Amino acid sequence: MSGIVRLRRRDLMLGAGAALLTPPALAAGKPRLVVTPGQTEGPFYPVSYPADIDNDLVRVAGRAAEAMGQVTHIVGRVLDRRGEPVRGAEVEIWQCDANGVYNHPGQPGLQRRDAAFQGYGRMPVDTDGSYNFRTIRPVAYPGRTPHIHFKVNAPGVGRLTTQMYVAGERRNAADGLLNAIRNAAQRRSVIVRLEPARGLEPDALQGTFDIVLDI
Ligand SMILES: [Fe+2]
Repeated sequence: MSGIVRLRRRDLMLGAGAALLTPPALAAGKPRLVVTPGQTEGPFYPVSYPADIDNDLVRVAGRAAEAMGQVTHIVGRVLDRRGEPVRGAEVEIWQCDANGVYNHPGQPGLQRRDAAFQGYGRMPVDTDGSYNFRTIRPVAYPGRTPHIHFKVNAPGVGRLTTQMYVAGERRNAADGLLNAIRNAAQRRSVIVRLEPARGLEPDALQGTFDIVLDI
């Protein structure tokens, strides 16, 4: 299938994971969200976009087979520090396949790539700032704990490149990039709990990753 499929928030049994409030902001009675920290883009951002760039990375247009790996729905909103949706933002994600292989010419072992995994997708946010991707649970590769790369661009307003991590991964403790985020609240804000996607899809996971721009 190709084309953006939007999940509505009522379709999801959303767990915790909504953007965190900063303690001083709570005390002052002014909502101020924890700004999502920037992270390096890394070496595997696409050099050319695949033909299919929709928000379902598990299916590639024209292919019957679905990607290897555990289907995972990532939903969230793009917000400003006051919690207002950032309208007009576009969200991109990219990640390696279930074998730990990116779709990138600089990727060693590219011949092992799962061609049924789209590897990259993008979508504009809805009027409430929401986005959703259907992808696979990220896997580790040498030197990195599992992660999904994110880029948000809101023309004339703000942009952010970051990475999303999985709560409970034992490799998180040793990951240099994750632990380079010195602010504990900011570090927590990029670690997402994945839970069964009840009511959405059998054997799939879901997680909520709200992205707060520094605007
Ligand atoms: Fe990566």
